[in-house]
Amino acid sequence: MTHAVVRTGPGRVNLIGDHTDYNLGLALPVAIGLGVTVEVVPSGDDRVVVTSEAYPGERADLPLVPDADSPAVVEPAWARLVAAVVALARPSVGVSVHITSTLPRGSGLSSSAALAVALADAFGVEGDARVVAGLCREAEHRIGVPVGLLDPLVCAGGRAGHALRIDFATGATRDVPLPAGAEFVVVDSGLRRDLRTSPYAVRVAECEAAAAVVGPLGSAGPEDVAGLRDPVLRRRARHVVSECARVDAFAAALVRGDLAGAGAEMDASHRSLSGDFDVSTRELDARVASLRALPGVHGARVTGAGFGGCVVVLGEPGALDPASVGRPAWRIEAVDGTVTARERRGRAAAGPQPPG
Ligand code: GLA
Repeated sequence: MTHAVVRTGPGRVNLIGDHTDYNLGLALPVAIGLGVTVEVVPSGDDRVVVTSEAYPGERADLPLVPDADSPAVVEPAWARLVAAVVALARPSVGVSVHITSTLPRGSGLSSSAALAVALADAFGVEGDARVVAGLCREAEHRIGVPVGLLDPLVCAGGRAGHALRIDFATGATRDVPLPAGAEFVVVDSGLRRDLRTSPYAVRVAECEAAAAVVGPLGSAGPEDVAGLRDPVLRRRARHVVSECARVDAFAAALVRGDLAGAGAEMDASHRSLSGDFDVSTRELDARVASLRALPGVHGARVTGAGFGGCVVVLGEPGALDPASVGRPAWRIEAVDGTVTARERRGRAAAGPQPPG
């Protein structure tokens, strides 16, 4: 790296398909216009110095070549993910990294994946979105956060104007155009969660226990679910199996412009996340119900890990004015992920291509 670079990693909103990634199922997220920006400046020494607008006066001073297990114990703790990405991306020279963000932290809009993909981009990590997402997930695992591929894959590989259908069993992705008449709004519930301390890891373990009996839940069917004897595991598995079916039903409804049909899948997704997967709360259920009751709204669900975070709402244009919700809320615009943006820059630099 020879000169300063500024890169932004977008956050994400998962339109449907939650707790399916680590079960090798399906999901349909979008990369959004809120994100995390890193300004990376080569320093000429062998240190990585990290500052963040969110923590004025604090800094982390890290070695360029860290010990294998050191990212998890870096202080201040907010710099751990940077340390883990540095350990994996191996920038060639010392740098200073300054972090700014338009994404609310802990709100379930993937501020950490946004940071990780922005850093990978700034450090020049090559490869397609799957390669970049794999590195970012590994960085999270190294600091003890047991996430799946959903967030980094869309933050790297999302495409403007489209949702990204991800099949986690094969790694295959497909762009699904968002219809012009569909408006998605996210509402921050204000309830905060941390994937290290929330029951997220418990859900991962429950799904593993179910998969040990019937195989990966993402490709299991209703008959497999019925065969599970433990009632809790049966409910967890039923969520995953039904959620994967809803992803494709939702995508098909979007493609034919059937917003009521798409909204019905979102409603069913929320009921399943709340009833079968137990990742909602009474406050979140009430928030979803009150947003859903507004005229012109077709569907609403908690998005992401649950236990707090954001609700995503599908409505007619103008049905839900973000300024009127009484909570921070944003109209979502689907943007390019970092790898898609890099490819676009590459094509623009190469100039017009010969036809054919
Ligand atoms: C979090 C994790 C993702 C995914 C979602 C639930 O956002 O980071 O990997 O498991 O929860 O769909």
